[in-house]
Amino acid sequence: MSRYHPLVPAQIDWDRATPRCRHHQDIYFSQDGALDETRHVFLQGNQLPQRWQGHSRFCIAETGFGTGLNFLCSVSEWLRSAAADARLDYLAVEKHPLTRTDLRRAIGYWPSLAKPGAELLEQYPPLVHGLHQRRLMNGRVTLTLLFGDAAEMFADLEGRYVEAWYLDGFAPSKNPDMWTPTLFQHIARLSRPGASFATFSAAGAVRRGLQEAGFEVSTRPGFGRKRDMLSGRLVDAPEMHGRQPWFQYPEATITSKHAVVIGAGLAGCSVAHSLAQCGWRITIIERHAQVAQEASGNLAGVVMPRLTADMSAAGRFYLSAFLHTAHWLNQIKKRNPALPWFQSGVLQLCDDTQQRRMQALGLPPEVLEICDAEDASDRCGVQVPCGGLFYPGGGWLDPPALCHWLLEDEDRNITTLLHQSALDLKRENGEWRIGDAHGEVARAETVIIANGHDAERLLGTDIFKLQKVRGQLVYLEPGSNSAALKTPLCYDGYIIPAYNGLHCVGASYDPDDDSTELRPESEQKVLTALSEKLGLGALTSRSGRVAFRTSTQDHLPVIGPVPDVEFYRREYTDLRHGKPVHKYKKAEYMPGLFISSGHGSRGLASCPFAAQLIAYQLEEYFTNCSHDAHLTTHAARGLIRQLRKQK
Ligand SMILES: Cc1cc2nc3c(=O)[nH]c(=O)nc-3n(C[C@H](O)[C@H](O)[C@H](O)COP(=O)(O)OP(=O)(O)OC[C@H]3O[C@@H](n4cnc5c(N)ncnc54)[C@H](O)[C@@H]3O)c2cc1C
Ligand SMILES: C[S@@+](CC[C@H](N)C(=O)[O-])C[C@H]1O[C@@H](n2cnc3c(N)ncnc32)[C@H](O)[C@@H]1O
Repeated sequence: MSRYHPLVPAQIDWDRATPRCRHHQDIYFSQDGALDETRHVFLQGNQLPQRWQGHSRFCIAETGFGTGLNFLCSVSEWLRSAAADARLDYLAVEKHPLTRTDLRRAIGYWPSLAKPGAELLEQYPPLVHGLHQRRLMNGRVTLTLLFGDAAEMFADLEGRYVEAWYLDGFAPSKNPDMWTPTLFQHIARLSRPGASFATFSAAGAVRRGLQEAGFEVSTRPGFGRKRDMLSGRLVDAPEMHGRQPWFQYPEATITSKHAVVIGAGLAGCSVAHSLAQCGWRITIIERHAQVAQEASGNLAGVVMPRLTADMSAAGRFYLSAFLHTAHWLNQIKKRNPALPWFQSGVLQLCDDTQQRRMQALGLPPEVLEICDAEDASDRCGVQVPCGGLFYPGGGWLDPPALCHWLLEDEDRNITTLLHQSALDLKRENGEWRIGDAHGEVARAETVIIANGHDAERLLGTDIFKLQKVRGQLVYLEPGSNSAALKTPLCYDGYIIPAYNGLHCVGASYDPDDDSTELRPESEQKVLTALSEKLGLGALTSRSGRVAFRTSTQDHLPVIGPVPDVEFYRREYTDLRHGKPVHKYKKAEYMPGLFISSGHGSRGLASCPFAAQLIAYQLEEYFTNCSHDAHLTTHAARGLIRQLRKQK
């Protein structure tokens, strides 16, 4: 699993239109004509655009995204020559991404690429280590940017999707890290059989490395002052050895793009929307008369990351989830300005020690700012007693409004069945049949279980160890001080700026308590936590709400294909004694069955991210946060932990 590293942005010296990397003392592209070089070396070197004709999907991957010139040239050519409904998947890795300022400057030199350039700039991710995915040009292009070291980031990916490679690290003599045998092996592993590559380099070590990895290599005339370059095809695809077969995913074997989603909270509505956007027809089943009546039914909720000082797998997961969801919400808001998502920033109060630890993560100021008490008070609009962490990209939203919008936005592709309880789930003739007390409600080859803590009952298992945790919110009328609150303010609880005339103040945390009644003791606990931190003056409690979080033992959600428990218990029963990994069979799953549950107290950030992970897995993209997010939230992780302990 790749570890988190603070990113060091590219240090560039500009020689008019030519950027030069200060660290490697090399240029990003030829001074003899950058666009012509890209077309000659990378497009023609891979026989593009001819090779993508007739493909409904085509995947290009690049080592060294740099200024995005190769990407933008490819997009421009794709829009000109590919079928209107065909999709380009572009994967690129970059260890030192350009700052937005340098990127803007570079793009400014290529007027012919202005349109895709403006979209790239607008959607360019914050400079945070990890995987960032963007849909551009009305969904015709998906850009997957891996910010980090190439060999490390590729090691985390699974799937053989790449058809053409652009190998564009700096010259091997100046930057050998981009031309190692390990990297070439990953390149071969991620390639479809017959995939091509092209590179400006003609170095002997590059030729030999690629040949050893299974490519047939030939020399072609280079561009400008370069005599030769290399290109070739994968002729000898390497065997795939999963590192942990019990976490390896099934290959997609779908014959119909119809899915049933069970549960219309944020987990269900967002997965329905993501799949519908990929052309799926969805039937969503909800037991209440309306959507978002349970955990996703609060007046308002906070969208923020849950950082950990050591950037553990959980911290990385929640950071990726937050960055994805904030971007996704902004894109939705552009199409629907009335959506109640407010990117006000979020202030989390904490002590100096915590501030110092978080500062060491080296996150860019657009993601995290450290504030003293005065600064913090300015940002949130009310006087606070201490400093804290400010997340400028965070904010708050109205979860039921978002759920409604998600289903309405794709209503051509989504059928909502309200007042229907999924009571049982059976597989017959290659399909899942969902029944209620009166008979069959719906059926499909693919089913996504997004029904909170009812998931284990429906699946007849307890392997996820889902736990129901009561939470009581207090809705307060704003007082003279609190009316000035501009951002959600988090301490042991949180208070959200007044919305529809009320502050939403959260929330009690009551495991082992099934009561749906509003309790005075819970209200008192919530208000005491608030008044201990903030002197907001007299506030009048108007009402409140009780709902139940679905939590897990490790406080991470459960996302992805549902394991075949019998297979796991049979095949992995001796894990504790440890045969060599390659002696175990690849994991088996319940065919076509997926889950998104256990979103606990951070579901507003994690549900939309889970939706994308599932949709992209079904659609065979390199998925968001790659292996890392999958292992952290894998539906069999608890079961594997149990088998490892078993005597
Ligand atoms: C008090 C409280 C405060 C919170 N505050 C925040 C916050 O500020 N920020 C944040 O990020 N998160 C917050 N959360 C967490 C967040 O609300 C949840 O993680 C998120 O809403 C979970 O969404 P879900 O779709 O998984 O679950 P739910 O919204 O509970 O949806 C599950 C749906 O499945 C339906 N269902 C269940 N069984 C069946 C069945 N058999 N057949 C048909 N339908 C079925 C249910 O009726 C329900 O609509 C809070 C949670 C609580 C309880
Ligand atoms: C020649 S430039 C790429 C130019 C780019 N293709 C373009 O269109 O602008 C090489 C790039 O590789 C990146 N790079 C260098 N070493 C790397 C590594 N180990 N992992 C990932 N990227 C690396 C550099 O930061 C630089 O952006």
